[in-house]
Amino acid sequence: MEIRAVKVPVPSANAPVTAGWQRLYELYAADHMAWYNHTDYLSHSVERFLANQVQGGDPERPEETYVLLARGEGRVSGPITVSDEPFDDVDPTAIVGFLRYSYYVESAEGVAFPAIFVDADWRRRGIGTAAMEFIRSRALADSRRILEAWAPGDPDAAGEPITPKQGAGSVASGDTGAAFLTALDYRLELVENSSSLDLTNAEKVRKLRELERLGRERLGGDVEVRVHSYTLDDEALSALAEARNAFEQDYPQGENADRIQRTPEQLRSEFDRALDRLTDGISVLIHEKASGVVVAGTGLEYKVGGRRAYQEWTWVSPDHRGAGLATYVKAVTYVHAIDHLPNIEVVETENAEENEAMWAVNEKLGFERSSLMTNWFSFYDGDAWRPHP
Ligand SMILES: CC(C)(COP(=O)(O)OP(=O)(O)OC[C@H]1O[C@@H](n2cnc3c(N)ncnc32)[C@H](O)[C@@H]1OP(=O)(O)O)[C@@H](O)C(=O)NCCC(=O)NCCS
Repeated sequence: MEIRAVKVPVPSANAPVTAGWQRLYELYAADHMAWYNHTDYLSHSVERFLANQVQGGDPERPEETYVLLARGEGRVSGPITVSDEPFDDVDPTAIVGFLRYSYYVESAEGVAFPAIFVDADWRRRGIGTAAMEFIRSRALADSRRILEAWAPGDPDAAGEPITPKQGAGSVASGDTGAAFLTALDYRLELVENSSSLDLTNAEKVRKLRELERLGRERLGGDVEVRVHSYTLDDEALSALAEARNAFEQDYPQGENADRIQRTPEQLRSEFDRALDRLTDGISVLIHEKASGVVVAGTGLEYKVGGRRAYQEWTWVSPDHRGAGLATYVKAVTYVHAIDHLPNIEVVETENAEENEAMWAVNEKLGFERSSLMTNWFSFYDGDAWRPHP
């Protein structure tokens, strides 16, 4: 079997939904199911999905997407070839998967990110491997010698536990993503779990209101809470950028991961692009009254009209830890969502297994574990890709 890759273009405004876009949207939906067990973070219609592609990707992390087209039978017989046939003319029934390749332009570490999805009916024939080889040669051409991959994990997979280089948790060797990435010379760096909080559960809502009230009574004299949407003013934006950059430096990530810092202007353009895609968010900052300094913050992002909100970040300043600020800032956020964002029924968050403090806070707030995801690295040593530098 031969595999051709056709680059997915940035469509022009009002481009029609061709069969290729429809097929790509279905594959994205299958990918979201593998990751989250729902498709709430995907555009809610193929028309909206296409409209969201018009603005192109994040200029700080440009991404290329290719659909993979199969011809012939059996296993993949050679490397992927890039075909220049227009995406809008491809036979959608030949599309068996997609790959995405990106990196932060300002990456200090030389990291690039592969993402591969193969239609379930076409797996175990070498398509994923060919896609990874394609990405690896692209990465070397761009002087990227570290690949950071993420895979959705199956908590019920069979096999021996593989433990991460960093922190706690494990994934079974029979897990699809783990088996695939291990076979391709990646090492497991971190295990993360996502968990979700049901805001329609009356008992949980009662508990959240109580935690918010207790926090306010205890801390309210010293701190001030400010809630912002993605259309926040410049002063709030600066405070938010500072808090998010501090979080980025701080939270558990693989030791070779990029810790990208954003200027307020970059954050503004990120929010404007999100709003353009009908995605909004709230950021909650807690300022110390005496100094005005931000001592804690968190952020949720959601599709306008969607049922789920995704927790992007939570941070407490190191010299204010242990005072209940993480619980308070999160409780404030969820009570705000309950009172002002009635569409949102579920909040989802992801945390490294090793982040015990965050797990303790989330359990107190009523989060329950939902899915597993794994973080992997592979390094080019001048000769071959290896699971260690
Ligand atoms: C992971 C994924 C991309 C693999 O695609 P694929 O085309 O089936 O991969 P390949 O056929 O090239 O598999 C290569 C090797 O990986 C290992 N492997 C892959 N899937 C496996 C599984 N389910 N169980 C055990 N081993 C597996 C095997 O060693 C396989 O070689 P073999 O078939 O000769 O034994 C595909 O399962 C998928 O799309 N999963 C959902 C998305 C995902 O997890 N992406 C993570 C990668 S970024």
